[in-house]
Amino acid sequence: MELRLRVNGIAHTLEVEPQARLLDVLREQLGLTGAKEGCGEGECGACTVLMDGLAVNSCLVLAHQARGRSITTVEGLAAAGGLDRLQQAFIDQGAIQCGYCTPGMLMSAKALLLAEPDPTEEQIRLALAGNLCRCTGYVNIIKAIREAAAGEVALKDPAAGVRVGKAAEGERGQELPQGVLLGNEAGMAESAPAAGKVLSGEGEAV
Ligand code: FES
Ligand code: FES
Repeated sequence: MELRLRVNGIAHTLEVEPQARLLDVLREQLGLTGAKEGCGEGECGACTVLMDGLAVNSCLVLAHQARGRSITTVEGLAAAGGLDRLQQAFIDQGAIQCGYCTPGMLMSAKALLLAEPDPTEEQIRLALAGNLCRCTGYVNIIKAIREAAAGEVALKDPAAGVRVGKAAEGERGQELPQGVLLGNEAGMAESAPAAGKVLSGEGEAV
């Protein structure tokens, strides 16, 4: 069956099996291997991507449920020429874990900050509740998300090429080029979606 969707701001028309999972389409047909398969059962969060700004476990979403939707993978987080502030904050705070869990944590954190630019620690912990890693106490990860949130609060209009957050004070040395949209790629809802992860592709495909 034919599937049209946007991934990281790029429109795609693909031929997919009716039962294909979004995770497999992203990894195997589009070569976007940032989203990982850990459990394959919606438990670990390694496969987390954004669908219209909401965090979803792509192992539980059928590809056809993404029809007409805008998907963002970890590959789409970085603004052209630089990292997303969440990525930079993860580096700054030593919050990087392994390549399996970190992409999912970044995407869950991104969904949180889209919905709640200034989250409490409790909200951060809740947002990460579906991202499992037995190798960390999450302390630095929470610090990183709080640091990125501080930048989000100070967000200026990126289309005007304005420096944002701490970068404006020269702490990150990160400057947004003209016309770059932060993380939330062109075509994604600009309004803040409801907080929390959608565990499967809820609602009608559009
Ligand atoms: S692979 Fe574990 S939640 Fe999807
Ligand atoms: S699962 Fe990635 S470091 Fe623990």
